[in-house]
Amino acid sequence: MKKLVQLAEPGSADESLARKLDSEVLPRHVAVIMDGNGRWAQERGRPRVEGHRAGVAAVRDTIEGAAELGLEVLTLYAFSVENWKRPRYEVWTLMNLLKEYLLKELSNLVENDIRLTVLGRWRELDPSVVSLIERAEQATRDCRGLRLNIALNYSGRMEIVDACRQIVADWAQGKGTDIDEETLGRYLYTSGLPDPDLLIRTSGEMRISNFLLWQISYSEICVIDTLWPDFRRGHLIQAILDFQTRNRRFGGLQSDSEDDVCDTRSV
Ligand code: IPE
Ligand code: IPE
Ligand code: MG
Repeated sequence: MKKLVQLAEPGSADESLARKLDSEVLPRHVAVIMDGNGRWAQERGRPRVEGHRAGVAAVRDTIEGAAELGLEVLTLYAFSVENWKRPRYEVWTLMNLLKEYLLKELSNLVENDIRLTVLGRWRELDPSVVSLIERAEQATRDCRGLRLNIALNYSGRMEIVDACRQIVADWAQGKGTDIDEETLGRYLYTSGLPDPDLLIRTSGEMRISNFLLWQISYSEICVIDTLWPDFRRGHLIQAILDFQTRNRRFGGLQSDSEDDVCDTRSV
């Protein structure tokens, strides 16, 4: 967080926002449903793909901001399994933007100690995409700063199905374990990572769209009206400020409650 305050232009809106943050209660993991590219373009009378192109700057700025804030994990929802229902040219453009991003930004990621991993059935994508992902994951494997997850060809339900299949496959090989929440969590694409504390969705839509269904059970949700291409680190900071006003109870009472905890099934 200090880094963001230092790097922000003195007197800028980002600097004054960042100064309001409580560094003791930063979310460890922020997940973002990047939505509204099509509407952004339509508002300007331009084809939808222009919105996707403009969205790349928002991705770059958000990643930089998250790294400077010192967040542990940032997960960006880039392409859902359901997005294959879109026109061929739109999907082609999205895949090409991703390839361009991986080609252009890899050295920046390494320089900034950002480890990139891709969540979803990305191995089913075009071989040209798969090889760039493999290269980026490999090149950033030892980076210890921000962990950047990109959800690509991702579906929350499929993730749970994939986890169950892998558990069954392990059983067949005699590596069976009891199934409990902890075990299932270890078989998800996000294995080893904390669940998102904060889920942000841009463009005002109040839905989850099959994103991280298991992991967001107690995430704080922040929906903002800004369309994704207009999103910048200032919006990220604002969402975190909102997060810092929330009273997370996880089914219990306020964390500072002095009452005895029941903690038993019979009263
Ligand atoms: C989000 O913007 C990008 C992806 C889903 C890939 P949209 O393309 O969904 O934009 P809207 O929601 O139609 O405005
Ligand atoms: C969610 O946005 C998927 C991504 C951001 C990649 P969509 O635009 O696909 O979601 P719906 O269709 O509005 O639910
Ligand atoms: Mg959308």
